[in-house]
Amino acid sequence: MRNKTTYACQSCGHQTARWMGRCPGCGEWNSLVEETTVVQQKPARGIAGGGPVPVTEITTAEEERYSTGLAELNRVLGGGLVSGSLVLVGGDPGIGKSTLLLQAASAMAGSAGKVLYVSGEESVRQIKMRAERTGALHPELLLMAETDMAVVEKVIKETAPLAVILDSIQTVYHPDVASAPGSVSQVRECTGLLMRLAKGKGIPVFVVGHVTKEGTLAGPRVLEHMVDTVLYFEGDRHQTYRILRTVKNRFGSTNELGIFEMRGAGLAEVTNPSELFLNQREQPVAGSTVVPSLEGTRPLLVEIQALVCPSGFGAPRRMTSGVDYNRVALIMAVLERRVGLRLSAHEAYVSAVGGVKLDEPAADLAIALAVASSFKETPVQDRLVLAGEVGLTGEIRTVAGMDKRLQEAAKLGFKRCIGPPVDKQAAALGIIEYIGVQSLQEAVEAAI
Ligand code: TYD
Ligand code: MG
Repeated sequence: MRNKTTYACQSCGHQTARWMGRCPGCGEWNSLVEETTVVQQKPARGIAGGGPVPVTEITTAEEERYSTGLAELNRVLGGGLVSGSLVLVGGDPGIGKSTLLLQAASAMAGSAGKVLYVSGEESVRQIKMRAERTGALHPELLLMAETDMAVVEKVIKETAPLAVILDSIQTVYHPDVASAPGSVSQVRECTGLLMRLAKGKGIPVFVVGHVTKEGTLAGPRVLEHMVDTVLYFEGDRHQTYRILRTVKNRFGSTNELGIFEMRGAGLAEVTNPSELFLNQREQPVAGSTVVPSLEGTRPLLVEIQALVCPSGFGAPRRMTSGVDYNRVALIMAVLERRVGLRLSAHEAYVSAVGGVKLDEPAADLAIALAVASSFKETPVQDRLVLAGEVGLTGEIRTVAGMDKRLQEAAKLGFKRCIGPPVDKQAAALGIIEYIGVQSLQEAVEAAI
């Protein structure tokens, strides 16, 4: 082994031999920090090795999955926790990552056996207090407050737990690496170590990672590349609902959602979430529409609200929350140009209700109609949902999974749906009146 000094970008992980003012990898200024790493002569073997083998001759057992005891967590993992997998749980500080994993740890300890919960952030007494509040007390749940990864490694090898939770990757350090905890080399080294432990012993490991203000996992992207599964825990801290989202998954589909409610006694699972993101009201109001969105395999009805008002002077303000800013700008440009709404001198505020984030294009039509409805100060028809992608020429494009969307809408008492022109599934379903439209212009005429 020998020591090597490099400069690593703290935002993207790019390494250079010299210090530079600007990272050549991501263009960030002043992000290079000197780090000393230990170069191992022989890189440790992970999954690699053994030479080429015909694909037909590789024997696979159905990958073993454990239940985490929380159905919503199992869902986002793709049907349970795969043995030997490394799962990263990211999210803002205070959103509930530790609570979630402590509850899962205790449930796994109850059903499967020994689970090791390592915290670099809290003392074991603090964790115990939280466990008492959330009813997560179980003799098979082992707690350890530790930040030295060499010790953690030793303990994992000695106790051979069924699963390990490490809270958080930014607080632990490897004694062989000179830089501070949370730096790129530390994060990379510690994650690599966990990876080898997970793969080598078949122990699933959950790693907590904090998110920075910009919304990326603190420090390096490297982390996301190394792990098997990345989950984001998000939501409005002022509200009680929390959404667990799959961002990457080597063992299942991405874009799955798990929904929880933060209560006094910890996180509770929400099994029928559709009503959460709708405002229950008697009278329809201008500027509000509902989209049956489809996150992964699960439909979710979400209310979109828009407020459009004349702007005083200068460039009109535009603001969004829960929907993509650029998407809204594009949709407003299409409304202006293809539908003839004079929006350019108006301020616009668009949000998705309940702290949910919508990023599928199927929400376009509902966003467009919320804006149009607010502009015209006329509500859209009662009991109406809208699903469709809006193109630059104002055309309405098809979206996937219309049958699931309509079933959910019908279940919650919606009577009609405006969407892309032909949808065989929707027509065949016949549970809800379906109005196919060619263009945004037609949609506005049909809805308002
Ligand atoms: P925590 O799991 O510590 O967040 P993270 O690990 O992501 O930083 O959750 C902290 C918040 O959750 C805290 O503000 C209080 C709230 N909370 C409850 O409302 N009820 C509970 O039972 C627990 C344990 C926490
Ligand atoms: Mg925490």
